[in-house]
Amino acid sequence: MVEDKASLKNEIKKMQEQLDTLKTRMDSLVSTEEEGRCRTFIRGFDEKLGGGIPNSHVVLLSGPSGTMKSSLALSILSRNIQEGMEGVYLTLDESKSSLMRTASNLGLEIDEGSIVDIGEMRRVEDIARDAGDWFEVITRFLTKTKKKKKISLVVLDSLDSILSLSSHSSPRDATSGFFHSLRDLDLTALIIDEAENEWEYQDHEDRVADGNIFLTFEMNLDKEVKLMIRCLKMRHTEHSRDYYNLNFENGEFFLSGSSD
Ligand SMILES: Nc1ncnc2c1ncn2[C@@H]1O[C@H](COP(=O)(O)OP(=O)(O)OP(=O)(O)O)[C@@H](O)[C@H]1O
Ligand SMILES: [Mg+2]
Repeated sequence: MVEDKASLKNEIKKMQEQLDTLKTRMDSLVSTEEEGRCRTFIRGFDEKLGGGIPNSHVVLLSGPSGTMKSSLALSILSRNIQEGMEGVYLTLDESKSSLMRTASNLGLEIDEGSIVDIGEMRRVEDIARDAGDWFEVITRFLTKTKKKKKISLVVLDSLDSILSLSSHSSPRDATSGFFHSLRDLDLTALIIDEAENEWEYQDHEDRVADGNIFLTFEMNLDKEVKLMIRCLKMRHTEHSRDYYNLNFENGEFFLSGSSD
């Protein structure tokens, strides 16, 4: 009898925990709808961002090479497209076929038309002919695309590659102007940016962006290496600043606890 009571109490506790989780998910969905946020679809992370990335925010997706920046951006785009949003992935770093292969390996559904090779665009599009720099070419392309399709999400892979091909006297001012153009176009932008650590951004792009989601590797004493994610900055959002372990399994990114 005593045992029965204890196991019932345990059951109630478990159900209460499940209810709390459901309530948190429900709250995050409500706030997403109310404020207009773009979800990352990283299970456990949107809740830490007040529901996701505020619409029309320009957010860096930064970190060292191999930290799954492109994979994560493909996942965010693919999942949002599935939810009815329109978006485009602009690439300069990696070929379209290589990105399609990444998406396929990760089990992500993405239409070939949603990935645009910026180099190719510059060669074939009218808009590129008398345009000055790469930022201008991209802005013109997005303006033209917006007239045809209701795109609201754009991924740019990557900022550092574009800046390395450009010869701006002030890369920071050029980047800031470009980010303003993206906001004026009412686009939520994920800007992939190679960054070795979270303190040094060559052209201070972290200061002119609305947000910065940083990915990195962390090694423990047993030399096991984990992929970590942290939101360094997200304007207009009460967010967690902690590091979380980022995992990928069965076509989904998810968090598993904070690093502490
Ligand atoms: N199914 C998978 N699960 C976990 N990790 C994977 C999986 N498939 C690939 N990876 C890892 O993802 C890495 C590459 O991811 P991705 O190209 O997205 O990184 P990136 O940060 O964009 O790199 P770069 O800076 O070179 O562009 C690979 O090195 C591999 O370690
Ligand atoms: Mg990449």
